[in-house]
Amino acid sequence: MQARNRAGRYHRVCVIKIGGSVITDKRTFKLNYAIANSIAEEIAAAVNNGIKVGIVLGGGSYGHVASSNARVLDAPPADALTLVTMYMFELALAMADILASKGVKPVVYPPHSFCDPNGLVPRCNWNSVLRDMKVGVTPLVYGDVYACGENWCIVSGDELAIEMACSLGSPLVVYVTDVDGVIGTDGKVIDEILVDELEESSIVEQKTANKIDVTGGIKRKLDAIRANRCPTLREILVINGLREGNTYAALMGHGSGTRIIL
Ligand code: ATP
Ligand code: IPE
Repeated sequence: MQARNRAGRYHRVCVIKIGGSVITDKRTFKLNYAIANSIAEEIAAAVNNGIKVGIVLGGGSYGHVASSNARVLDAPPADALTLVTMYMFELALAMADILASKGVKPVVYPPHSFCDPNGLVPRCNWNSVLRDMKVGVTPLVYGDVYACGENWCIVSGDELAIEMACSLGSPLVVYVTDVDGVIGTDGKVIDEILVDELEESSIVEQKTANKIDVTGGIKRKLDAIRANRCPTLREILVINGLREGNTYAALMGHGSGTRIIL
């Protein structure tokens, strides 16, 4: 089955980036199980409806907290890589386990082992992902860390999602967040906007309490979109994943939130 988005276009592949603030608890290394479970159910429903889904996870209280700890302790790069890759792998496996329990066939691809990022461009080898998707696999990647020169760097799920969509031929990327969409200067959620109109100056950076974020909120998403956009990518949907049914609707192309047109 193909799904039709709000612009009336059809798609059969969709990339979804699930923000860390949605699937993890604010406390360290803890899954927000109820939400992770319901999002997995909605992804399974979309997959059952014939949508090929590429999944990207954010770091939340796993990757961000581990990265922040490594920075505070001024950990040597190898120690930081060990710490952060381990916690992100744990988060990915936990989510894969939940997805598998819903009948999805997830396979985890650790970005540090198949990507060679350059700034905001992840430069992953998506061929192996495409190969495995042909037999019905649902790929799962996540924001990760890698050695960069003598140091360590972060590749965020935000840019992985855009590059993945371009490589998989998905015209749509869904960013699942804990807010109803991108909030404009008037304090209201923007319904629909051209990416070029969504200038950084028109976005009020909202402060979030109790959140460690080492990769930078909504503005980072815009930078990721700009750095990785491709001709086949048509639309980004920013939705609230805490609202039941939103994820399924978005994967089918008609979720409510902010629609960013490319
Ligand atoms: P995490 O929250 O773990 O960093 P995420 O992908 O779920 O990952 P963000 O990348 O931080 O979330 O993006 C959503 C967050 O961006 C919201 O929780 C909100 O606090 C923040 N934000 C900042 N400015 C805006 C804005 N103008 N509109 C909407 N959200 C904004
Ligand atoms: C961050 O990934 C990954 C690490 C800190 C290792 P993201 O930047 O995609 O995470 P969220 O979605 O903001 O939590």
